[in-house]
Amino acid sequence: MTSKEIRKTFLDFFKSKQHSIVPSAPIVLKDDPTLMFSNSGMTQFKDFFLGYKEPKNKRTADTQKCLRVSGKHNDLDDVGKDTYHHTMFEMLGNWSFGDYFKKEAIEWAWELLTEVFAIPKDRLYVTIFEGDNDEGLDRDLEAYNLWKEHISEDRILLGNKKDNFWEMGETGPCGPCSEIHVDIRSDEERKKIDGKDLVNNDHPHVIEVWNLVFMEFLRKADGTLEKLPKKNVDTGMGFERLCMVLQGKDSNYDTDVFQPIIKKIEEISGLTYGDNANVDIAIRVLADHVRAIAFSIADGQLPSNSGAGYVIRRILRRAIGYAYRVLQIKEPILHKLVPVINTQMGDFFPEISKQEKLISEIIKEEEIGFLRTLDQGLQRLANFMESNPGLKVIPGEVVFELYDTYGFPSDLSRIIAEDHGISIDEKGFNMEMNKQKERSKSATNFKNYDWVILEEDEVEEFVGYDFLDTHVKITRYRKVENKEGVFYQLVFQITPFYAESGGQVGDIGYIENLNEKIEILNTKKENNLIIHTVKELPKYPEFPFHAIVDIKRREAITKNHSATHLLHEALREVLGKHVEQKGSFVGPEYLRFDFSHFSKMSSEEIQEVEKIVNTKIYERLELEENRAVPFKKALDMGAMALFGEKYGDLVRVIKFGNSVELCGGTHVKNTHEIIFFKIMSESSSSAGVRRIEAITGETGMNFLKDQFSQYDRLKNFLKQTDDPLKSIEKLYLENDQLKKQVEQLNKEKANHEKLIWKNSINVVNGINYIGLITDLNAASVKDLIFQLKKEISNLFIIIGTKTEQKPTLSLGISDDLLNLKNLHAGTIIRELSKEIKGGGGGQPSFATAGGSDTSGLENAINKSLNYLQ
Ligand code: SER
Repeated sequence: MTSKEIRKTFLDFFKSKQHSIVPSAPIVLKDDPTLMFSNSGMTQFKDFFLGYKEPKNKRTADTQKCLRVSGKHNDLDDVGKDTYHHTMFEMLGNWSFGDYFKKEAIEWAWELLTEVFAIPKDRLYVTIFEGDNDEGLDRDLEAYNLWKEHISEDRILLGNKKDNFWEMGETGPCGPCSEIHVDIRSDEERKKIDGKDLVNNDHPHVIEVWNLVFMEFLRKADGTLEKLPKKNVDTGMGFERLCMVLQGKDSNYDTDVFQPIIKKIEEISGLTYGDNANVDIAIRVLADHVRAIAFSIADGQLPSNSGAGYVIRRILRRAIGYAYRVLQIKEPILHKLVPVINTQMGDFFPEISKQEKLISEIIKEEEIGFLRTLDQGLQRLANFMESNPGLKVIPGEVVFELYDTYGFPSDLSRIIAEDHGISIDEKGFNMEMNKQKERSKSATNFKNYDWVILEEDEVEEFVGYDFLDTHVKITRYRKVENKEGVFYQLVFQITPFYAESGGQVGDIGYIENLNEKIEILNTKKENNLIIHTVKELPKYPEFPFHAIVDIKRREAITKNHSATHLLHEALREVLGKHVEQKGSFVGPEYLRFDFSHFSKMSSEEIQEVEKIVNTKIYERLELEENRAVPFKKALDMGAMALFGEKYGDLVRVIKFGNSVELCGGTHVKNTHEIIFFKIMSESSSSAGVRRIEAITGETGMNFLKDQFSQYDRLKNFLKQTDDPLKSIEKLYLENDQLKKQVEQLNKEKANHEKLIWKNSINVVNGINYIGLITDLNAASVKDLIFQLKKEISNLFIIIGTKTEQKPTLSLGISDDLLNLKNLHAGTIIRELSKEIKGGGGGQPSFATAGGSDTSGLENAINKSLNYLQ
């Protein structure tokens, strides 16, 4: 079976068991402070397990794009070195949200693997949870007894908490699990060592393919386990490993998932996969990492300097590092692999096929930047070794600085050092690394305590589209700690506060009752709860409150949000339909809009866009808001779904004239409320993505007021009112002419001065000495000294100036004199400059000094004669 057929067979099988097949969630997560990326299939269903939300179908299956490069599940360092770990991989999964449990999960897994996929039963082993006394958890005998129906008991193995109790992260849903392992070794090898001794022993050919998790617990922040409201099933099967098994290969990289990418790398590098162990690792790293990078960018996460973007940047740099030093490819290569990924996966993952060009461009730009940095790093390292001859060990700080500032992998420093017969201070480097880890840990350090529930079964509703103040009741609260201190978070049963999402910032305001008034510092979403952050916990949290949103701020935000929609539409009209939103920020002061477009906008285009948006404002377009449109219908209405966003079955549609968007944000009732729209800047955000910043409403009016008042001041200054531009042009012209005249006069003056200087020559000890004070400017003095040094032999010339009340000294010594005597202008001027309370230095034949005491100039010049003795 091809990989495409394998994926389809899995999904069809669970469809036949009444499962709804859903698309993969985006690989990059948005509203989860505990997790940056989807690290397993269950991430997107967390709320169903926790009972926060009801699923449409209690049985669901999909293939999920996963990334395990940070946090609890991090495989990055193994990737490439072995043949079965990946950064990005697909996880095939089936779920029961409080529907079937262990029996069906086990039966169907067995049926699919042994009947549909026809994996011989004597190659399979299963594990069950052995129990854990400290946690008070029993052995999973239920699973054991169910497996007994299908597989002989000597193939059912016990596993400990590490292997057989699956947890999503430090907190969250968890439960005992049963893993299915496959032994794909040759018969001969299987005879030598029993497969069951190799299960969970990092053997590349006796590997786990499927994990059936029986989710019944919630791990709380205090470390204890609590029963979930219902019993659930979460299974995850490694797609690439399954392909390896079914395609009879002994490495994931030999399957048709990776082979086309590897072929392309071979073609570009001229190397052959399979010839050399180190080259093979590098090729695997490239083939693996490019998928992770491409899929993250496709879901809207561009490489950047912080958070998830930084993780992606590091993956990319790891890949380029391998290409550079192992494959000797010193040019961008990763972007050339994107079309291959598209051919392989584009029809199942439209986020790739629809954005292939953009993804390639972004990767290419990032590669070019990093290769430049690598070159600079190499140069720095070479300089360091050159300026420290006889060096035996490169200090850890130097290696770390190269790594930290230049993104220069330490392996590379090590290899280069070894080439020069020296080593690097590994201990020192590791110490610096640990220090940095500590720093970043404390920077992101936060602790969420467990929720205190005041009202069970709360349904939280956002009413802030219609109301900016309401009565609220706190249904739960918790304490949180982060680098800014201790805060409390409150959840209400209804709330007028908009939670930060879709680029729009969260509301602020306050809640109050007769007892107290508490400021709401921000509002954000976390796993679909709307969370209000406060500094002080209410004294009586169980009492009702009146909640009031900061109206002025909200109105300004709202204007900016509606203007963002008008801007999007206008950009598509002016630049073309390729323009798609790539991110936005909507705050009270301004809006920022990132969009796909490949060249800088001309000022005509910018003006045209401004004109269109402002026209829409004057046309007084009514808001047409529809809060619950079936997703498909919304698309038919012309709304655009963004890659990397998760949409429900019913979506909110916002329409102003031709602008139709899927949007959860707040909007003006009529476009005239926006008042005025002005683009403040247009710049590049990254390769293929432009960024516009713009203002509206009161900020826009204030900007106009400022501009008018500046204009008035300008007109007053120019003392005429009809055409200030013309006056300025005239002034510029006059200024140019005057500059030329000054230059001419300076030249004449210098020629005159040169004559005076020449006439003043004093011969001291056979040396032609000139010592003078002048009011020429420094550049002319230097120029004259150099002219005279050429014209007069044996010359020692020292000139003092006192322009702008600051004294300077310039000293020139002709080369013939330098050869004869041991004179050094730099050293002499340093001494002499003490007379003018200053300092300076320079070359042996020319040096200058500045000072602060003009009265010392004469002395300095007189003293210079001493050097001629
Ligand atoms: N959550 C489990 C895993 O990731 C099964 O899907 O292994």
